[in-house]
Amino acid sequence: MSRYLITSALPYINGVKHLGNLAGSMLPADVCARYLRRRGRDVLYICATDDHGTPAELAALAAGKSVAGYCREQHEIQARMGERFHLSYDIFGRSSSVQNSELTQHFADRLIANGFIEDRVTQQIYSPVDQRFLPDRYVVGTCPHCGFERARGDQCENCTRVLEPTQLVKPRSAVSGSADLEARDTHNLFLQLGKLADQLREWIDSHDDWPLLTTSIARKWLNEGLRERSITRDLAWGIPVNRDGYEGKVFYVWFDAPIEYIGATKEWADMDPGGGRDWKSWWFDAKDVKHIQFMAKDNIPFHTIMWPGTIMATEEPWKLADFIKGYSWLTYYGGKFSTSQGRGIFMDTALELLPADYWRWYLLANAPETDDVDFTWDGFALCVNKELAGTFGNFVNRTLKLNEKLFGTEPGVSTVSDGGVLGDVETRLAMELDARIATYNRNFEEIQFRKAAAELYLIWQAGNGYIQERAPWKLIKESPADAAMVMRTSINLIRIFATLAEPFIPETSARVLAAVQVGADENHWFDENTPMLAELARLAPGRELHTPDVLFPRVGEEMVAECVERFSGIHAQNPSA
Ligand code: MF3
Ligand code: ZN
Repeated sequence: MSRYLITSALPYINGVKHLGNLAGSMLPADVCARYLRRRGRDVLYICATDDHGTPAELAALAAGKSVAGYCREQHEIQARMGERFHLSYDIFGRSSSVQNSELTQHFADRLIANGFIEDRVTQQIYSPVDQRFLPDRYVVGTCPHCGFERARGDQCENCTRVLEPTQLVKPRSAVSGSADLEARDTHNLFLQLGKLADQLREWIDSHDDWPLLTTSIARKWLNEGLRERSITRDLAWGIPVNRDGYEGKVFYVWFDAPIEYIGATKEWADMDPGGGRDWKSWWFDAKDVKHIQFMAKDNIPFHTIMWPGTIMATEEPWKLADFIKGYSWLTYYGGKFSTSQGRGIFMDTALELLPADYWRWYLLANAPETDDVDFTWDGFALCVNKELAGTFGNFVNRTLKLNEKLFGTEPGVSTVSDGGVLGDVETRLAMELDARIATYNRNFEEIQFRKAAAELYLIWQAGNGYIQERAPWKLIKESPADAAMVMRTSINLIRIFATLAEPFIPETSARVLAAVQVGADENHWFDENTPMLAELARLAPGRELHTPDVLFPRVGEEMVAECVERFSGIHAQNPSA
């Protein structure tokens, strides 16, 4: 039997992440991990913060903090945010960990030993006042295209044109403001990716089951030819380059970040010494491991070319991805979510507005699997009001309320009542469930969570259709025994629906299962081989039920109007990044 190693792209350390980050990597990885665990598979879900790089350094500078201190704080914030969104990581590590440092240096040693690295001299901007080289983003000046005075050396935020620092008019240092800048020679390590092109192409070609988004981006890079890429930088913040002549240099953030997938696994093992956590067995010569990666499309080149290229160049049997799931963009009213402009919605503000399950459901049911998906408040309200409030929530609340009315014992409490036997309508219902649940499981196995959410919605709808058809509120007069059977069946549907919903909306799933008193011992998944007719009679007469409060209060028009205004980006939401 396979073990499953699941990773989501590592979020940058600076700032609370927006819903687009969540939708394209952390959330689908979580659903995948939850589903596989429910199927009894051995799962390890790895995530971490991506701590290095210039944005982290600049954000710390702006906050007046040491980079290390800033990163520690931000890691705490992001870890807590992940918990509140019920992201079920086995570890949420840090790429600045000791473990990652050691592994990164090991990887570099192997690349050098195997002849894939070249030392190359280039020119970089140097600031004598700051006594350091300035990466592109550290050089600011006037945009030659639009005249914006605070354009960065890599891009103008105002007109979005990509720039070289040498194009800026009146360039100066973002650190000190000094205009005394010069171009100086420096040398860095370059990975000769071209030598790996054939091997990479063969690897990509051997995976014809990957999403087209993934393979098309990978092939585009291969067809354009792979150039050497610098894996070190003249910076202080990062993993030191452990070689003579490279003092004051660190590895490039994109070199050490994917290595942290392994580094975090080692962090996970080191957290429980003696606990039998064998980190290496997940990554090294791990033939029984299926490794699934989740990421947004801008990350695809790194995961289909640079990272596997690095692994191949080690000539050691580190685990390559078995499946790479890439996502398109979630946009906000047709534009980008912007951390710096506070445009769109961020994980912290999202939770101030509504519980995590609303967001989880919307983002997964509308995941940008093939094309970009545009977030609007109207679209969001329509989705959650119809699918969560109007269908699942409505079925649960209405059924338990009605059961209380017909078979209640005291306010808020009722029991599963006795009488009647399952008839033709129930047999048909069970057949529909058999077919739909088979599809549902297949969607998960094929890593098609948007389709799975659509199927779950149809499953929920079958419940509303059923109770509507059987109308137990009428049946009670003609045939109390049949009414009892219909209510019992509906209560069993509640359990089935909540169990199936767990990967998507774990908080509500748990709440509903608690309402019908289904404990861990009774809470099993339904697979292709579970006859659903028997499941419709699983919860037997006499069981006590508690009617929960409305599961999903509707998102009203006032809230929509207020949010449209509040998150337009005019008011800065997120000054930290
Ligand atoms: N921090 C990067 C981003 O948000 C993703 C890094 S993924 C890793 O785009 F594999 F490199 F870790
Ligand atoms: Zn400009």
